[in-house]
Amino acid sequence: MLDRFNRKINYLRISVTDRCNLRCKYCMPESGIELLKHEDILRFDEIVNVVKVAVDSGIDKVRITGGEPLVRKDIVKLVSMIWEIDGIKDLSMTTNGIFLDQFAEDLKKAGLQRVNVSLDTIDPETYKLLTRGGNVKRVFKGIEAAKNAGLKPIKVNCVVWNSSQEEDAKAVAKYCKENDLQIRYIHQMNLSTGEFSIVEGGDGGNCIKCNRLRLTANGKLKPCLFNDLEFDVRKLGAEKALKLAVENKPKSGTFNQTNKFFNIGG
Ligand code: 5AD
Ligand code: SF4
Repeated sequence: MLDRFNRKINYLRISVTDRCNLRCKYCMPESGIELLKHEDILRFDEIVNVVKVAVDSGIDKVRITGGEPLVRKDIVKLVSMIWEIDGIKDLSMTTNGIFLDQFAEDLKKAGLQRVNVSLDTIDPETYKLLTRGGNVKRVFKGIEAAKNAGLKPIKVNCVVWNSSQEEDAKAVAKYCKENDLQIRYIHQMNLSTGEFSIVEGGDGGNCIKCNRLRLTANGKLKPCLFNDLEFDVRKLGAEKALKLAVENKPKSGTFNQTNKFFNIGG
């Protein structure tokens, strides 16, 4: 599928829940968020239908995100349902890693190929402050379990405030080197004002090369993270929503006042 600017769209990121077991300071308010209603969240059969339609149009790469995807009930089942769709070459997940030690093996068996784990600091106290209560040791355990399960490559998403040379980022880089993990530095962003930048070590934020579409937990197909455009798969049907999302994908990002990271998965 080519868009108006000749970009080949082959990557779909699916947010499966707006819920999260952490409250990272840059992502969620301490009090939490107003959560989507149960009936507004796409059911598995609806998600699978969108993926099938997307694969028929050239999507071959799928990433499952959240919120935190591992808090969605029966997530392993969803992974296997998506993996069964013919034509998916790359199936991955972005997780905060807290529950990964419990899920890694089953996810691998269900067809998940690899994971990206969010880790901004390896210092237990700093992690606890930043995530408002998270235990970094569980993330280490989760990464270990992902390795043992054969989910690879494992990539670490490290949010930086100023540069990849700041102390926390350097310590995460060292940990990654020692544990054979790939690191990507993501500059802290503000969706509503359009402050975004290219992910160091990844393709995110590079509009010229952007090959992605996003599906929110409540069924909106979004052509761009930094834009308010969205097309509702329930209202329009998956085919039409997908067609409109591709046709309207903007040349580059501006700002997004409709969504936040926790409902769109970064
Ligand atoms: N700026 C940059 N990255 C963010 N993430 C969440 N909120 C922000 C933000 N404001 C990242 C997380 C995770 C991914 C899902 O999105 O750190 O790696
Ligand atoms: Fe949860 Fe990820 Fe947001 Fe942190 S950044 S609160 S782990 S969704």
